[in-house]
Amino acid sequence: MASSSSSKAVLLLTLCLISAAAAERTVGSFQCSARATCHALVDYSPTNDTTYSGIKALFGVKKLYSLLGANNLPTSTPPNTTVAAKQKIRVPFPCLCSSNSTSGVSNKVPVYTVKKGDVGLDDIARQTFSGLVTYQEIADHNNMSNPNLIQVGQRLWIPLPCSCDEVNETKVVHYGHLVESGSSVAGIAERFGTTEETLLKLNGMANASSLQADQVLDVPLKACSSSVRTDSLDSPLLVPNGTYVLTAYQCVKCNCDSANNWVLQCEASQLKSTNWSTCPSTQCSDSSSFSIVNTTSSTTCGSGTTCAYAGFNKTTIYTAQVPQPICPASNNTNAASKMVLHAWSWSFLFISIHLVLLLVFFL
Ligand SMILES: *[C@@H]1O[C@H](CO)[C@@H](O)[C@H](O)[C@H]1NC(C)=O
Ligand SMILES: *[C@@H]1O[C@H](CO)[C@@H](O)[C@H](O)[C@H]1NC(C)=O
Ligand SMILES: *[C@@H]1O[C@H](CO)[C@@H](O)[C@H](O)[C@H]1NC(C)=O
Ligand SMILES: *[C@@H]1O[C@H](CO)[C@@H](O)[C@H](O)[C@H]1NC(C)=O
Ligand SMILES: *[C@@H]1O[C@H](CO)[C@@H](O)[C@H](O)[C@H]1NC(C)=O
Ligand SMILES: *[C@@H]1O[C@H](CO)[C@@H](O)[C@H](O)[C@H]1NC(C)=O
Ligand SMILES: *[C@@H]1O[C@H](CO)[C@@H](O)[C@H](O)[C@H]1NC(C)=O
Ligand SMILES: *[C@@H]1O[C@H](CO)[C@@H](O)[C@H](O)[C@H]1NC(C)=O
Ligand SMILES: *[C@@H]1O[C@H](CO)[C@@H](O)[C@H](O)[C@H]1NC(C)=O
Ligand SMILES: *[C@@H]1O[C@H](CO)[C@@H](O)[C@H](O)[C@H]1NC(C)=O
Ligand SMILES: *[C@@H]1O[C@H](CO)[C@@H](O)[C@H](O)[C@H]1NC(C)=O
Repeated sequence: MASSSSSKAVLLLTLCLISAAAAERTVGSFQCSARATCHALVDYSPTNDTTYSGIKALFGVKKLYSLLGANNLPTSTPPNTTVAAKQKIRVPFPCLCSSNSTSGVSNKVPVYTVKKGDVGLDDIARQTFSGLVTYQEIADHNNMSNPNLIQVGQRLWIPLPCSCDEVNETKVVHYGHLVESGSSVAGIAERFGTTEETLLKLNGMANASSLQADQVLDVPLKACSSSVRTDSLDSPLLVPNGTYVLTAYQCVKCNCDSANNWVLQCEASQLKSTNWSTCPSTQCSDSSSFSIVNTTSSTTCGSGTTCAYAGFNKTTIYTAQVPQPICPASNNTNAASKMVLHAWSWSFLFISIHLVLLLVFFL
């Protein structure tokens, strides 16, 4: 009797250890070094066909545009557009790093309500949330003493992995990338503009061969530089390559494209504001035609100035005149010589206009 119950206990213990090992994320991944909140991204790969509004509701994303922007989809995309099973969608969410040396988790979202037919926590973690969390993590973060007991209508906070840490003293957007089978650490690093070394270190991986399909890899995405002021309500505005955000109560659309020298490109969105009856002016000067995105030179790389978006407060949209930043990223010497050339043509135009005016005056 005694030996049989002790062997049962051993068996149970072994099972627990196995599941704990399976549930444990590699040390080092999604670590936080200090208390902070920020925006993060995670891949979602639905088990069944769904829609953008379905994903928005499942993850508690506040605005459809945030979801569309994270995937660089047009703002006109209908919410009921089908997202096929297994397609990967980037979901934006708020991240909370609660203290030193812990893993970051999504800040109070998503909240999942247990439905009739949900088999258990593991099913919810794997099927509904495509393995972005484990049943153990859900149980731990919801203080469940028995993960096998769930009730219809019960509300569960799903702790998505994330971080707010800087990487190489640079502010980044941490992206939980669902690893596809057949991909390599080097390939992923190249695709997202980082290095193999950084990815290994950040994810606590000893070497590149420990990469596994369906692993959620912490990929730091570089964000575009912007002119947004520190006193702006959207500061720091971190927009990673290949995404856009709507800001200033939806009046301004800012897009990041590495091809624009990693400089954020903002423009009036032409959408209805969420908090203002009409969008405030985005002018840089009294001249009504000089507004954000306008440049003093019509060429793509000149010596003029650009009217840049610089943030907002409850009443105003800030703007700033900055030196024309949009130069081709590839060839520096070429760009520099072009700039000189444009400076020349600009002053040439200036002089010509004055000459013409002078002539008109005298004739
Ligand atoms: C989406 O909704 C619009 C109306 O809001 C409807 O006309 C359209 O057929 C729907 N599309 C799909 C794929 O359900
Ligand atoms: C974080 O923890 C490390 C050691 O674990 C300690 O040296 C450091 O001072 C802590 N930082 C803060 C801000 O608590
Ligand atoms: C996916 O569809 C199947 C069959 O229709 C259903 O049994 C299952 O519950 C669905 N899964 C999710 C996560 O909705
Ligand atoms: C779990 O318990 C801890 C400590 O008792 C508490 O701080 C935390 O808020 C609880 N979490 C939830 C989701 O109830
Ligand atoms: C930036 O995004 C584009 C697609 O939007 C992609 O082709 C390119 O590789 C990305 N570059 C970096 C450095 O992430
Ligand atoms: C961080 O710095 C190290 C050492 O300088 C470098 O090898 C690595 O590529 C950098 N990572 C990123 C993401 O820039
Ligand atoms: C990679 O690390 C694993 C342990 O994490 C080890 O078993 C394996 O031999 C290592 N491979 C190489 C090529 O170093
Ligand atoms: C913006 O409007 C929403 C409701 O329309 C409101 O909940 C929110 O507090 C407003 N934000 C600010 C900063 O006024
Ligand atoms: C400034 O940009 C707006 C919107 O793109 C455009 O309508 C306007 O013509 C531009 N003005 C100048 C001077 O380029
Ligand atoms: C917003 O900024 C403008 C211009 O700097 C300033 O005049 C205004 O008082 C500010 N409003 C608030 C609510 O801070
Ligand atoms: C830059 O342009 C020059 C002249 O057009 C060319 O010779 C050189 O190879 C280019 N360099 C790069 C890195 O593309």
